Amino acid sequence: MTKRTLIGPFKQIIPMTGLALKGAISDRELEVIAEGGILFENNLILATGNFDDLKSEHPDANIQLLKGNHVCLPGFVDAHTHICFGGSRAKDYAMRNAGKSYLEIANAGGGIWDTVTETRKASIEELTKNTIKRANRHLKNGTTTLEVKSGYGLTVDEELKMLRAIKEANEKALPELISTCLAAHMLPKDFEGTEKEYLKMICEELFPILKEENLTHRIDAFIEESAFSTDDIQAYFSIAHDMNFDITVHADQFSTSGSKVAVNHNAISADHLEASTDTEIALLANSDTIAVALPGASIGLGCDFTPARKLLDAGAALAIASDHNPGSAPMGDLLTQASILGTFEKLTNAEVLAGITFRAAAALKLEDRGKLEAGLLADLAVFHSDNYQDILYNQGNLKPCMIWKNGELVFDRHK
Ligand code: NIG
Ligand code: FE
Repeated sequence: MTKRTLIGPFKQIIPMTGLALKGAISDRELEVIAEGGILFENNLILATGNFDDLKSEHPDANIQLLKGNHVCLPGFVDAHTHICFGGSRAKDYAMRNAGKSYLEIANAGGGIWDTVTETRKASIEELTKNTIKRANRHLKNGTTTLEVKSGYGLTVDEELKMLRAIKEANEKALPELISTCLAAHMLPKDFEGTEKEYLKMICEELFPILKEENLTHRIDAFIEESAFSTDDIQAYFSIAHDMNFDITVHADQFSTSGSKVAVNHNAISADHLEASTDTEIALLANSDTIAVALPGASIGLGCDFTPARKLLDAGAALAIASDHNPGSAPMGDLLTQASILGTFEKLTNAEVLAGITFRAAAALKLEDRGKLEAGLLADLAVFHSDNYQDILYNQGNLKPCMIWKNGELVFDRHK
């Protein structure tokens, strides 16, 4: 049975419509619907507009009447996380703050490898449970779609365990989870062979199972001096491409070269980019690859932010994601991080909000969300306010009061 719902009146709806996918956006370009309503049927938006007009045009709709001041945005999309993991790296964080670098800790046996050890020890049930718990916390902060990577298993079986846990978590978690295979996160210390041999094994033994079990359609790799080189990854990405996987890259985090690999392989996104120079910025701006800034990693590691302003001014599409992971980005609060990136990089409200809505959806190749318009998913983040500017102004401290996912009210702070 179809169910038509009209929700409102909102003081402001920010539908994020009519904005370009690439380049700078001024706040003047943001459409603001005053005294707005959103009409949806089942999981899809039918119309947005003036609440009273929609009410008289659709007298049959079930009305969800709001009292007080509310602002509505599209539910946020977090296009890069590693929330499926075992253990904690609080010790690494303390060591970094006491003067050791991320790479020094990794080389001394800590870092990603520590999380690999803890994740391998965890059962699939534990991983599933923890992933659901973390995903639901993200939902309460406004995120209705969340990408989740493997990459702490680093054997065929352990990567499968992670991806099966993410698939299972997606059945039960409130946000939708989009999985990505990051078996190319680092060369596992217990693998007897070279980087190329490890990647060949992953292609031959893991990729076919990913297809068979429908575990993911996305392949990621960490291109870095401590992980995989441009040369190591050529064959890996070519095979992934031939098997119809979408490609995404951990690029230019500490040293450059990853963004070039991303553009050459037509990657959907190149993520991190803290070390990108004008050369990489120009390369990304002239490509279809979405640039994804991860301010949570800069805040977690105490290093430079992605040059977001320069990327936008050069004409790149900029998304912003949390990178929530136990090592470099333990906070996992997208709105706080995006707001802070905005202050340091001088981004307009429109650019920050685009970075966590429709531009982030594009980083996952999702065309059905990230804006509030007819035909798209009824995923809504609602805040108590009469002015959308309050959201970034409060730097994450103004939390959503209601979240709608696929047309269902899945979170109500007052209940
Ligand atoms: O995106 N840079 C590589 N991977 C993750 C960190 C993973 C970890 O430290 O556990 C990142 O920052
Ligand atoms: Fe990451």
